[in-house]
Amino acid sequence: MNFLTLIKNLLLTSFIAFFPITVFSDVAEDWQLGFQDPATPIMEGIINLHHDLMFFICVVSIFVSWMLGRTLWHFESNQNPTPSSLSHGTLIEVIWTVTPAFILLIIAVPSFSLLYAMDEIISPAITIKTLGHQWYWSYEYSDYLNEEGEAIMYDSYMLPEEDLELGQFRLLEVDNRMVVPTNTHIRVIVSAADVLHSWAVPSLGVKCDAIPGRLNQTSLFIKREGLYYGQCSEICGINHGFMPIVVEAVSLPNYITWISNKLSE
Ligand code: CUA
Repeated sequence: MNFLTLIKNLLLTSFIAFFPITVFSDVAEDWQLGFQDPATPIMEGIINLHHDLMFFICVVSIFVSWMLGRTLWHFESNQNPTPSSLSHGTLIEVIWTVTPAFILLIIAVPSFSLLYAMDEIISPAITIKTLGHQWYWSYEYSDYLNEEGEAIMYDSYMLPEEDLELGQFRLLEVDNRMVVPTNTHIRVIVSAADVLHSWAVPSLGVKCDAIPGRLNQTSLFIKREGLYYGQCSEICGINHGFMPIVVEAVSLPNYITWISNKLSE
């Protein structure tokens, strides 16, 4: 990253800040500091909670820095040659115990409501099983059966660098994406075939551990069509960094077409 690119990025970020255009980033960007744009109500909730907490963090850190600075200044040995013999004060101790506890209580309210909202699985219309393998993901749509009575099942491998087309993301693109409909309650069941993996997609607000011999479940309600990029988020061996996740959210009619194509394959 040279100086010019830095300037270019700064200009670009300030341009976007002043002239908002609707381009969603559902993939990590260079020098990104914030979140990827949310596509589910859960991710919106996570971002809002983060912003709420940021308020308390700013107030607390400004106050603590001010106290620290003031103490260092006023009680420095030259300025204050004879130290005070004060060792404790009941009132101040009650205040500095109760105030942080009270702040934590205030924070706990939105935090818990979000936590329980994330846990909720609202009568899903679709259930998709995703299995982590060393080192790829596989997806299983067992709601639908073809004429032989088999469910839709396929593997999803990362595209190697030499196979990438212009505009595709290195280390993030896969050969077979997980296709889901928008505006539908989806249940994702996560497990692993060999070692621990973790199925994580930032824009969808999902990070679910894939544990061998155990089924974890999480839910998705995607509000807009798009491509959502994620990565395995549990160290699972040498190719841990090379088992990305791509969720392709399409409209319901397109999803049905996709399913029927898959079934007739
Ligand atoms: Cu699979 Cu890390």
